[in-house]
Amino acid sequence: MTTNKTDPKSWREATRLVRGGVQRSPFEETSEAIFMTSGFVYPSAEEAELAFKGDKKRYIYSRYANPTLTMFEQRMALFEGAAHAVSTSSGMSAVFASLASQLKAGDRVVASRALFGSCLFIIADILPRFGIETELVDGTDLAAWEKALAKPAKAVFLETPSNPCLEIIDIAHVSELAHAAGARVVVDNVFATPVLQKPLPMGADIVVYSATKHIDGQGRTLGGVVLTNDQAFLDDCLTPWMRHTGPALSPFNAWVLLKGLETLPLRVRQQTDNAGKIAKFLAGHRNIRKAIYPGLPDHPQHNLALNQMDGGSTLIAFEIDGGKSAEFKFLNALSIIDISNNLGDSKSLITHPSTTTHQRLSVEEKATLGITDGLVRLSVGLEDPDDITEDLDRALAAAD
Ligand SMILES: Cc1ncc(COP(=O)(O)O)c(C=O)c1O
Repeated sequence: MTTNKTDPKSWREATRLVRGGVQRSPFEETSEAIFMTSGFVYPSAEEAELAFKGDKKRYIYSRYANPTLTMFEQRMALFEGAAHAVSTSSGMSAVFASLASQLKAGDRVVASRALFGSCLFIIADILPRFGIETELVDGTDLAAWEKALAKPAKAVFLETPSNPCLEIIDIAHVSELAHAAGARVVVDNVFATPVLQKPLPMGADIVVYSATKHIDGQGRTLGGVVLTNDQAFLDDCLTPWMRHTGPALSPFNAWVLLKGLETLPLRVRQQTDNAGKIAKFLAGHRNIRKAIYPGLPDHPQHNLALNQMDGGSTLIAFEIDGGKSAEFKFLNALSIIDISNNLGDSKSLITHPSTTTHQRLSVEEKATLGITDGLVRLSVGLEDPDDITEDLDRALAAAD
């Protein structure tokens, strides 16, 4: 295998994303190879023994490591500015591994309440089954964080912008409070993407992604990744967890994601640009009761969004009058935008969180989070934004 001749850390971002992590096989291929193999062979029994003892660093088994996964992980780490990246089979396995690998019975976790449904299920339902105390707070309320973190905690989990209402949480401030309480901070950075927000320099200890979203960005595969500079977390928690519980990414899927990274900034910047135009259109539309977009000046945490993000995100949430029936009429009248719960795709996708991604929540929980029957979440793609606004306009008229 041959690797890059100069230090990839000296490269600028776009170069890191196209060339970072490349390891060429003896065939000197241009495009990265897919090592579609579950295991590896040893020239001798002695080498197998050395490999298992950890005295010879080499590939052993794809549940532990695989060259295509290594290429994806190295490219991802270079982009995030993290020392380490560990790939996982999905975003949820990344979220679960980042928490469960470091927690034990008796530990305490503080998390923001506005979370993607499955993340909330892990925090509120799964972890307490194993004797872990969890507390949910309003992520936008620093006094609530301060109160919850006045007691010692082991981990803090937050999502910013949040799914689906795009609340913004002050990563630097919460990280300071968390560290004083003894907690590691885990940020689910899916909505922002590493293009628009880098949580590690702001104080976060661990960043997780559903790579299924913008990193693939073309609706082809599930995947996830956990990034950190914390060597002790990597060595004592995450690596043994991954090796022995086995949520490994497939080499084929790692290859898809690796190629997705090459165009990630181009796609995310264009999609963010499109989302800004569409958010303005929605905010001024007579049938829209409320448009939520961190890039709009009337967003409650607009200034914080400007401070910690490099753009308003590729997602917009908005409400129309008339509740669920009007909302369904509107969704069914769309002809370009697809109804789908995925996001970050090159195709614009729309979902009704109350009946899909967040349908498990009680009426009270939905009300607290602002997930009304009239709310939809739009993930803006790469189509011409004028076609998307025309599609929205036609469908809004049909639901009127
Ligand atoms: C914020 C957030 N975190 C995690 C996930 C889970 O990712 P995956 O579907 O790849 O498991 C999602 C999926 O929608 C998400 O929106």
